[in-house]
Amino acid sequence: MKDVNIGICGLGTVGGGTWEVLQRNARLIAGRAGCNLKVARVASRRPRPDLGLGDTPFSTDIYDVIRDPSIDVVVELIGGYDEARALVLAAIAEGKHVVTANKALIAVYGNEIFNAAREKNVIVAYEAGVAGGIPVMKAIREGLAANRINWLAGIINGTGNYILTEMRAGRAFDEVLKEAQDLGYAEADPTFDVEGTDAAHKLTIMASAAFGVPLQFDRAYTEGISRLTPYDISHAEALGYRVKHLGIARSREDGIELRVHPTLVPEGNLIAKVDGVTNAILVDGDAVGQTMYHGPGAGDEATASSVIADLVDVARVVASGSDQRVPYLGFESEAVTDHQI
Ligand code: HSE
Repeated sequence: MKDVNIGICGLGTVGGGTWEVLQRNARLIAGRAGCNLKVARVASRRPRPDLGLGDTPFSTDIYDVIRDPSIDVVVELIGGYDEARALVLAAIAEGKHVVTANKALIAVYGNEIFNAAREKNVIVAYEAGVAGGIPVMKAIREGLAANRINWLAGIINGTGNYILTEMRAGRAFDEVLKEAQDLGYAEADPTFDVEGTDAAHKLTIMASAAFGVPLQFDRAYTEGISRLTPYDISHAEALGYRVKHLGIARSREDGIELRVHPTLVPEGNLIAKVDGVTNAILVDGDAVGQTMYHGPGAGDEATASSVIADLVDVARVVASGSDQRVPYLGFESEAVTDHQI
């Protein structure tokens, strides 16, 4: 069986989870991919002796992964905007495929990154950036490929949903946020979670795939949960509602509506019952009707599950030796639909 060489950049929560799952399920994953996903190099500013990397070459300089000519696929798990953008563009320039969990990077710099990838005929895959372990991008891109998407809506920030769930039980906002940070759910800058930025990143990415429009993060209406009080939550309940932080994207006559904000959801609605770090996304297509995707929205191995799903897709292309790139992985059509955001 052919080896496809992977270089992991970043050994934080998701990087560590990716390493662990790749080791534990190596044979199973190879069987499904039709090739070995070999971690040929790992780089991280902070070493992780707890992971037991064995003989796998390790470096504290992430660019060692790019410089290594044997690496086929770079896995960007360092997070943030600028450093990740530079790393990903450098990987593409070297003709390497990229798998990333970085929604901020894709939402803000995705158009530039996909153009660079198209020029070098490499793939940029980003399932893990949206809704943690739920394969919602694959569902939108492939499962619902026959549909004109009318709208999508859901809970797309696990930390925020965890905080709202615990606040219902009477716990204080700051205490629960700290717990979410300790559990590895929150962003490095947790204001991204509580001010709606992280949800807006994910909504921007889903809308781009669902409606075939460029990524336009700066056009999304963004409001977080930081101003909600226990009083808001208990009064909503008295009236038969749950307060949920939703991302909503809708195709309208005059363009695409993108908004992220706290919402009153009737308590009988499926979305109202989604608690904890779980995410849930409803997608309405003209052929299929309404579908729902539900599962862990954050966490080390849940997110690693999506990173590795992308790695399997990319590794199959690499192992086949084909020049044909999978068009849906970072190769949106240049033609914009009739929608304008
Ligand atoms: N901070 C994010 C969340 C991580 O809580 O949803 C997963 O994207």
